[in-house]
Amino acid sequence: MSRQIKYAELQEHKSENDLWLLIDGKVYDVTKFISEHPGGDEVLITEGGRDATEPYEDVGHSEDAYDILKTLLIGEISDPENIPKRGRKPSDTATASAGGPYVHPSLLTSSPLTVILAIAAVGAFLAYRYYF
Ligand code: HEM
Repeated sequence: MSRQIKYAELQEHKSENDLWLLIDGKVYDVTKFISEHPGGDEVLITEGGRDATEPYEDVGHSEDAYDILKTLLIGEISDPENIPKRGRKPSDTATASAGGPYVHPSLLTSSPLTVILAIAAVGAFLAYRYYF
C-alpha cells in the first residue's frame, strides 16, 4: 500500500530543495528531477506543493514523462476533499455572445442558447418582412 499523505503535508514541500508535486491524486517527490526537467525548473517550482494535474496534462507530456513520473511516486493524498479546485481556464468557459446583429457561423455551434437566439432573430426578421 502506498503512503498516505495529507494535503496540508504536501503544501509544506514547495521549495527547490524539497519539492513535491500532486498529479491526479498522487504525490511525487521531484526534488532530484528539477534540474533534469526538459520544461525547465521554474514551472515545477511554481507548481510545487499543490495540485499540478491541470498544467501537467495541458502540456501533453509523452509516455516517457509518465515513466519518469512513476519513479518519483512517494504516496497518495489521503484527504482529496481538501484539494482546492483550480479555476477553469477561459477556453473551457468561453461561450459565444450574441452581441451584434451579425452572428458568425462558427459561433452557432458553441451553445444551444446562441442557436436559439439566431433562429429567433431570423424569425423576427421574416415576420417583419411579412407584415410591413
Ligand atoms: C514530475 C512531473 C513531471 C515530469 C516527470 C515531466 C517530464 C517532462 C518530460 C520528459 C518532458 C519532455 C517532453 C515529453 O517527453 O513530454 C517535459 C516537457 C515539458 N514539461 Fe514537464 N514534467 C513534469 C511536470 C511538469 C509540470 C508540472 C509542468 C507545468 C507547466 C511541466 C511543463 C513542461 C513543459 C512546458 C515542457 C515542454 C518543454 C519543451 O518542449 O520545450 N512539466 N516534461
